Amino acid sequence: MILVTGGAGFIGANFILNWLAQSDERVINLDNLTYAGNLENLSSLKGDKRHIFTKGDICDSALLINLLTKFKPRAIINFAAESHVDRSIKEPDKFIQTNIVGTFKLLEATRTYWSKLERNIKKDFRFLHVSTDEVYGSLSSKESPFDENHRYEPNSPYSASKAASDHLIRAYYKTYRLPVLTTNCSNNYGPFQFPEKLIPLIIINALSNKPLPIYGDGQQIRDWLYVKDHCDAIRRTLEAGAPGETYNIGGWNEKTNVEIVRTICSLLDKLSPHIDGRQYDEQITFITDRPGHDRRYAIDSNKIKRDLGWKPTETFETGINKTVKWYLDNKIWVENIKSGAYREWINKNYKGRAL
Ligand code: NAD
Ligand code: DAU
Repeated sequence: MILVTGGAGFIGANFILNWLAQSDERVINLDNLTYAGNLENLSSLKGDKRHIFTKGDICDSALLINLLTKFKPRAIINFAAESHVDRSIKEPDKFIQTNIVGTFKLLEATRTYWSKLERNIKKDFRFLHVSTDEVYGSLSSKESPFDENHRYEPNSPYSASKAASDHLIRAYYKTYRLPVLTTNCSNNYGPFQFPEKLIPLIIINALSNKPLPIYGDGQQIRDWLYVKDHCDAIRRTLEAGAPGETYNIGGWNEKTNVEIVRTICSLLDKLSPHIDGRQYDEQITFITDRPGHDRRYAIDSNKIKRDLGWKPTETFETGINKTVKWYLDNKIWVENIKSGAYREWINKNYKGRAL
């Protein structure tokens, strides 16, 4: 069996669903259900004995040792993190705690467990750390996409905390030979993404007749990857990646934020038009920029293609179509998210930004 941390969040939940759709190997899902953790994402697994959920924190060493000793996983995939840049600007503490201290605690518990494994099992054990392209900082329009040797230059408390966690992972390989793998991925989108992130926020605001907030001039560029492609890349890395290596994962889909928002608007004009004939892009509103806002991310994913044979299957056009349709078809999921923690966050982040 495998241990997945943060499996009730956006990518972790997609990963578990994807994993169990392809194999019967059991998954222990350790997640402390922060505002971003939502067991509804996994409701299709209700009663499925292959999914074992445990509510708990990756900072809790005793719990980690218990879980590892009891279930004896052959691999750990670490998704658990505070993941939203804007929140890291307003409340950095939790990012330091979960992303740095939590990764450290998980590594230490894993090292204790792994060091006692039988030689054969020990050799095949893997710890895969899911990280981000944001650790590399920001590119100018002329620079080549980030490859695995790009210098680390994080610019937000979020990316700095992820960079620190990546360094710990590296150190555990160099110092203890713990068989780790690191993946650095670009922006994901798709089903079950919490609507604090650009794409689901725009879809949901558009349908609720609310302003569509674009930070600054909206010319920032991100490299978008459909979440299922990311899950496949992680699976492939776990299967065939070389311990100690890092793999960049991206979609070769560089788009400005304005392009993203306009694409969503025109899809909604077709799929769910306003009854009064208004166009969705009339709701676009430019607001105060994010402090320290990275201008451009782009991933060179040639290494994972060459060494592991992975490449994305979705284009941005096919992926965004599926995503918009998913949010239109899953109104109950959306409504449940819109009550509670989400509403509080919207008040905190957008108040005073001239919406
Ligand atoms: P998310 O915020 O949707 O989910 C994070 C999950 O981790 C939640 O279920 C939350 O409850 C859980 N969690 C948080 N703190 C925890 C703790 N201390 N102990 C146990 N569980 C905890 O995040 P996501 O977008 O699914 O991202 C998952 C991982 O992928 C993160 O490590 C993130 O840095 C990385 N990543 C995300 C993207 C992206 O575009 N979303 C891109 C590249 C990498
Ligand atoms: O690159 C990978 C990273 O992508 C992940 O590591 C992070 O976990 C994930 O949150 C994401 O970070 P971004 O900051 O790029 O994603 P976000 O959806 O917050 O913003 C995407 C772009 O849209 C960014 O340039 C900021 C802009 N934006 C965002 C929001 C929420 C807006 O213009 N308006 C908004 O309201």
